[in-house]
Amino acid sequence: MLPQPTVEQALAAFTLPEKLGFGRISAPVMFSATYEKGEWSEGRLIPFGPIELMPNARSIQFAESVFEGMKAYRVPPARPHLFRPLDNAGRFARSATRVGMPAVPESLFLAGLDAVASACADFIPTRSGSSLYLRPTLFSTEGGYDVVNSGAFRFLVLASPSEPYSSGPMRVRIERDDVRAARGGVGAAKTGGNYAAAMRATTRAVADGCTVSLWLDPQQRQTIEELSGMNIFAVIDGEIHTPVLSDSILPGITRDSVLRLAAHSGYRTVERPMPIAELLADIAANRCSELFASGTAAIINPIESLLDADGRQHRPGASAVALRLRQSLLDIQEGRAQDPFGWIHRL
Ligand SMILES: Cc1ncc(COP(=O)(O)O)c(C=O)c1O
Repeated sequence: MLPQPTVEQALAAFTLPEKLGFGRISAPVMFSATYEKGEWSEGRLIPFGPIELMPNARSIQFAESVFEGMKAYRVPPARPHLFRPLDNAGRFARSATRVGMPAVPESLFLAGLDAVASACADFIPTRSGSSLYLRPTLFSTEGGYDVVNSGAFRFLVLASPSEPYSSGPMRVRIERDDVRAARGGVGAAKTGGNYAAAMRATTRAVADGCTVSLWLDPQQRQTIEELSGMNIFAVIDGEIHTPVLSDSILPGITRDSVLRLAAHSGYRTVERPMPIAELLADIAANRCSELFASGTAAIINPIESLLDADGRQHRPGASAVALRLRQSLLDIQEGRAQDPFGWIHRL
C-alpha cells in the first residue's frame, strides 16, 4: 500500500470543488472502528483511502453489509448539526440484526458521525439543499466460503459534500418485471443486496430517460411499494397518500418526516395499500394531482411522470404540495425555522 497521509495532511490538502453532484466527492477523512471477539474498538478518524480486505471476506461474497444515509448541515458560525441521527442509529441496528450482524452501539455511531462532521465542518456546503452526506457502513471482514455469519466486522463513517440527488422533477419508470425485495426478506433493512437487486431495473430506467424505478409488490405486482432509494407519495383529492409499510419497503426517515410535517400543516395523511391500476386511473381522472418522492438524498422531489412498460406516460401535472413540504423540511433542516419535532441534533 502507498504511504498514507496523516489526518491533518489529508484535511489540509482538500479543497471543495465548485460542482459537487450527489455522492461523487469523497471527504478526505473517515471514522473507523473494528469488532473482534465480541468487542468494539474505540474507533478513530483516519484519512479516506483504500482499505485492505481479504478477497473471500463474506461482505464481498455474501453482501454481509449494511449502511445508512444521513446528512450534516452547517449554519455559520454554529457547529454542524445532524437531522434525526437517533432514527438512523435505530434503523442501522435493525438492519444489522436482520442479517445476523452485531449492531453498532448508539454511542459509537454518534461518536463516528461527530468526528467526521466536526473534522469536515469547513467543507460542509451551505447552499440550500446541499450538505455533508454521511454514509455509516458496517461490513464483515472475516473470510470464508461457508455461509455463516462472520466474527469480525468493520464500521466506517464515510462522507461526501453533496448537492441534492435530483436537480428537478423526476421521471420514474414503473418496473413490471423485476422485484426488489421478497415477503419475509430483507427489503426493510438497508443492506447491500437490496441495491444489487435493483441495479438492472435502474439501468433500464436510465436508458428510458428516467431517474429511478417504481417497485411493485413482490407477489402480485399490483400495489406500489417505493422507488429505488426513495419512498413515494401521491396527492389524491387533496390528501397525502403513501404505501403502508411492509417487510419489503425501507421505512424512510424522510417518509416519516413528511407524514408528520404534512399532518402538522393541516393535510390529511393516509397510509394504505395503493394499487398501481387505481393510481394510474386517478391520474387520468385528475384526482391524483401530484406525485413526489422522499429520501435523505432526494429531500422531497416532485415526480413529473410515470413511464409504463407499454410506453405510456402518466403525468399528474402539479407540484405545489411537494414544493411547499420540501421548503418546510429544508427550513427545519437548515436552521431557518423552529423545530417543533425535536429533529435537530447539535454536535
Ligand atoms: C430503498 C430506499 N427507500 C427509501 C429511502 C428513503 O429513506 P430515508 O428517507 O431514510 O433516506 C432510501 C434511502 O435511504 C432507500 O434506499
